[in-house]
Amino acid sequence: MSKEIQSAVDNAQIHDEIENVPSNTSGNRPFASVLEANMTRRKVMAGSLTVAATSFLAPAASAGWKWGHHKKHKELVGFKPVAISDVVDVSMPTISDDYEYQVLIPWGTPIEPGATEEYNGDPNTRPSAAQAALQTGLGHDGMWFFPMDQRLGMSHKGYRMRNDAGMLCINHEYGVNQHALGKSMPESLEDVRLSQNIHGVSVVKLKKTVRRGWKVATSKNSRRITANTPVAFSGPAAASPLLQNPNGNIALGTINNCGSGATPWGTYLTCEENFNGYFGANGIFNPTEEQQRYGFSETGFNYGWHLFDKRFDLTDEDYANEQHRFGWIVEIDPFDGTQKPVKRTALGRFKHEAIAIAESGNGRIAAYMGDDQRFDYCYKYVSEKSWKAAISQGESPLDEGSLFVAKFNDDGTGEWMELTIDNPVLAARFDSQAEVLIYARVAADLLGATPMDRPEWTTIGTSGEVFWTLTNNDRRTDPSQVNAANPEFKNTDGHIIRTKDADDHMGTGFTWDIYLLASSTRDTEGVFTDPDAAWADPYGRLFIGTDGGQPDGLQDQLVVFDTRSETPEPKRLLVGVSSDEITGFTVTPDQRTAFVNIQHPGNGSPENTNFPAPFDGTTIPRDCTLVITRKDGGIIGS
Ligand code: FEO
Ligand code: CA
Ligand code: CA
Ligand code: CA
Repeated sequence: MSKEIQSAVDNAQIHDEIENVPSNTSGNRPFASVLEANMTRRKVMAGSLTVAATSFLAPAASAGWKWGHHKKHKELVGFKPVAISDVVDVSMPTISDDYEYQVLIPWGTPIEPGATEEYNGDPNTRPSAAQAALQTGLGHDGMWFFPMDQRLGMSHKGYRMRNDAGMLCINHEYGVNQHALGKSMPESLEDVRLSQNIHGVSVVKLKKTVRRGWKVATSKNSRRITANTPVAFSGPAAASPLLQNPNGNIALGTINNCGSGATPWGTYLTCEENFNGYFGANGIFNPTEEQQRYGFSETGFNYGWHLFDKRFDLTDEDYANEQHRFGWIVEIDPFDGTQKPVKRTALGRFKHEAIAIAESGNGRIAAYMGDDQRFDYCYKYVSEKSWKAAISQGESPLDEGSLFVAKFNDDGTGEWMELTIDNPVLAARFDSQAEVLIYARVAADLLGATPMDRPEWTTIGTSGEVFWTLTNNDRRTDPSQVNAANPEFKNTDGHIIRTKDADDHMGTGFTWDIYLLASSTRDTEGVFTDPDAAWADPYGRLFIGTDGGQPDGLQDQLVVFDTRSETPEPKRLLVGVSSDEITGFTVTPDQRTAFVNIQHPGNGSPENTNFPAPFDGTTIPRDCTLVITRKDGGIIGS
C-alpha cells in the first residue's frame, strides 16, 4: 500500500474510531442482564403487534401521496438473494439476479442552475472550492425522494404523484481530507473551503427518461447547502445567548449530515451527527463538562478547519458559541430553493443519526431519534398540536412540543422521560429549557436514561412499532454495563430493537423487544453485521443497510426482512464495493424504484476500488447513488 493510500485509510479509520469514543461517564446502567426475560417478552409483543393499526403507514406514505395498488408477489420478500459465493469482485457492487442498478449523481455532479463543470475522479485534478459548491458532495448518506406535484400542507388523501420525476434531498455526511483534498491536512483557507463545500446537503431534481434512465434535470430549486450556507434557528432555544457569538456572526451551515427523515407536510429533515469533529483548538483548550460530553477536543477528527477558519476554533472567544450551532435536526424545503434551512431546537442537540415521524390518531406527531455514540440514548419528540393545525396556523409542528429520552426496563417495558426544566432534577442544573435542549445529553444523563449500543436509524413499521438499529459496541469494560436492551457484553455485530408506544405514540410508556441480534446470523447464508440505515415499507418489509466490516468476504450490504414472519430472516439484495457503506434508502411512490447510496467507496483509496469507474487502480472512487429496480418492474424488495 502506498503511503498516500495508507494515509487515506488511516484517515477514515481515525474518523470511525474518534467519532465513537464513548463520552458518557454518567454511569447510567440500571439493569442486570436478563436476556431470557426479554425473549419471553418478545413472544408477547409479537402477538400485540398485529392488533394495533394507526392511520400512518410510513413517513413516505403521509408525505403527500397515495400508494399505488399493485398485485403482491406471493412472498413479501421473494427475490433471489445474493449468495456469499456470488461476491467475487468487490471493486463493483453485486446485486440480486432479479435486480439491476444504475449509477446516479456521483461526487462532482453539477446540480446548481447554470453549473456545468463536473469532477470525474481524475487524481490529478480536484474541483476548486467554488466548483464544489455547485456539485454533489461526498459522503452520500440519508436521503428522501419527494415526487413532483407534491405541495406543502395539502391533504394526503388520494393526490396522484409522479413516479418518474422528483426532488431528491441527499446528505453529504463527510469526506476525509485525503479523499476530498488529496492530502491529510488543509494547507490554506481554499483547502478548508473545498472540504466544507463537499459537506452538507444536495437538493437535486431527477427525471426518468426512456432512453437513458434516471438523470439530473434542471430546476431553480436544485441547490447545494454547505457548511457556509445561511441557516435559521427556530424553537425554544432559538433566541438563547448560547447560540449567539460575541462578534455577532450570522448562523451558517450544516455539517456531518448523517441520516434523514421526511415530514408529513412534505419537507426534508437532515440530521447533524459528528459535528464535534470539525472543531479544534489553536490555543490552550480546557474543555468544560458539556464540551467533554459532546466530545470536543483539540484536534477533532483532523479536518483542520480551525487552522484557517476561526469559526471552528474552540479557543477563539469571538466564536465562543459556534459549537452550539451544530448537533441539530435541520428542516429543508425541497420545493423552494430560496428557503433558509431551519434548525429545529425543540428536537434537542446531540449526535443526531436519523429521524422517523409517526402520526398519531389525533394528528399529532411523534419523532423517534437516535444519538449515535457508544452508550448514548434513544429519544422521542411529541408535537403539542396536530401537524395540520400547526401548519394551518403558520407554525411548525417541530417547534412546540416535548422531548423525551428512553429508559428500557428489563421486563420489556420502558419509559419516556421528559427533558423539561419543570423537572426539579434538571432545574437544579440548568437555567432554562433552552439550556436543557442545547445540553440534551447532560439532561438525559441526569434522568437516568438507558445507555445503548450506538442508536443509528429509526423507522416505523406497519403497526406503528419503531425499529431502532443499534450498530455495535465493543467498549464495555464491566459486566454491569450490560442491560436487557443491550444484552451482549462485546457487541461487535449490533442488533435491532423494536419499541411500541403504549398510547398511539403519545404516551410515556412503551414496550420493547429485541427484533434481532446480528450475531445470530453468523454461520448462516444471510449473515450481516452492523445494522445502520433502516426503512420499513407500508407492507411489512424492512430494509437494512450496514456499516462495518462484514464477515465471509462480504462488503457492506442491503438486506431485507419480512417483518410479518415470526423469525427474522435477512435476504441479501445488494453487496457494495470494497470498504464502502450502504446507506440511505428511499423509493418512488409506486415503490418500483429505490435509491440507495454507496458511501466512501474504498474509504477513498483508489487501490481498493475506483467505483463508479471500472477498476484501474488510480481513479479516485466517488460516493454515488444507485437507482435500483426489479428487472420485471415489480415492487422493490419483492
Ligand atoms: Fe453517520 Fe452513525 O452514522
Ligand atoms: Ca449511519
Ligand atoms: Ca454507522
Ligand atoms: Ca457513515
